[in-house]
Amino acid sequence: MTTLDPILLTPGPLTTTLQTKQAQLRDYGSRDIAFIDMTAALITQLNDIVHGGDDHACVLMQGSGTFSVEAALGTLIPRNGHVLVCINGEYGKRIAKICEIIQRKHKILQTGEDQPTTARMVDEALAADASLTHVSIVHCETSTGILNPLEEIAAVVAKHKRGLFIDAMSSFGAIDIDARKIRFDGVVAASGKCLESVPGMGFAILRKAALEQCKGNCHSLSLDLYDQWQAYMRTKQWRFTPPTTVVAALAEALKQFQAQGGVAGRGARYRKNCETLIDGMEKLGFVSFLPRSIQAPIITTWHAPADPKYNFNVFYDKVRERGFTLYPGKLTQVETFRVGCIGAIGDTEMKQAVDAIAAIVKEMGITQLKPAAKARAAA
Ligand SMILES: Cc1ncc(COP(=O)(O)O)c(C=O)c1O
Repeated sequence: MTTLDPILLTPGPLTTTLQTKQAQLRDYGSRDIAFIDMTAALITQLNDIVHGGDDHACVLMQGSGTFSVEAALGTLIPRNGHVLVCINGEYGKRIAKICEIIQRKHKILQTGEDQPTTARMVDEALAADASLTHVSIVHCETSTGILNPLEEIAAVVAKHKRGLFIDAMSSFGAIDIDARKIRFDGVVAASGKCLESVPGMGFAILRKAALEQCKGNCHSLSLDLYDQWQAYMRTKQWRFTPPTTVVAALAEALKQFQAQGGVAGRGARYRKNCETLIDGMEKLGFVSFLPRSIQAPIITTWHAPADPKYNFNVFYDKVRERGFTLYPGKLTQVETFRVGCIGAIGDTEMKQAVDAIAAIVKEMGITQLKPAAKARAAA
């Protein structure tokens, strides 16, 4: 795990292993048999992670995660569809924005950024509006790190016989999503998150019975997952120029993922990372934005200290000089910063990160670590 690069404590791009980086040092032609075999193996392995079996198809897509989210929404939601968009952070808002741009009717189910969407809320919304055809949910809302109760929500959506779209960008591979237990039309994620590869491609696991109905739905040529699927089935090749080095890196990262115990192994490492991080930060006096009960082991959000000596940019630069990259907060109401716990890192790196943060707190002379409101309440 040694590297000259900083340890990336962000939601992606992430720290990758040397083997994953090295897998990119090849030139593959898109028609090379080695590349065709690699693509086929990737499709099978990604589908297997959610136990998709023959009932599901995995469709690969070039681009960052949002490309795949937009592709799946545009493909799965018919032009006369109506989506219940569950929002408790930025990525939920992004889904609403996509629906607006691609002109899919949608209704927003909003909760606070520190409140999970509950199955009951979804149940009530679906019972109240028979015109809703689909529900979208962000599994781990990366703007805070909150975990939404996917299994319960999926059960309610299935009960109402509506389609379910899951943005599992920051949970896929680390938190269980099992197609044998939950029913979804589409689950979307990308290469550069919990699978610990480089960014550059995404993928959707789609329920075939739903996908088969999607011909002509999509607003876009390049983002049409139905066409992408059909073209792959015919040719065993990507429809347009494939991101060959990204595919090679993901194939290598998936080998490591399997060797490390799949979802169970990865989830266990991230839970330990997250625990070490939260214990260490709380010991220093930082206050977490979320209670542990709704915290996903992916990224943590911390209130900015009330101390006037705190300045995020200075704090960030100094921690970066010590070899760790933090992430700014994404909340509008309160000032926060984020520290991720995913990537090819373990407990040792998390302890080193906490030590670096402790040293910088001391160096900057920050003594009041509680946020302004909590500092006032304690006084
Ligand atoms: C939950 C979620 N959805 C969507 C995205 C968008 O992915 P990208 O920035 O790769 O387009 C992210 C990125 O972190 C995410 O965490």
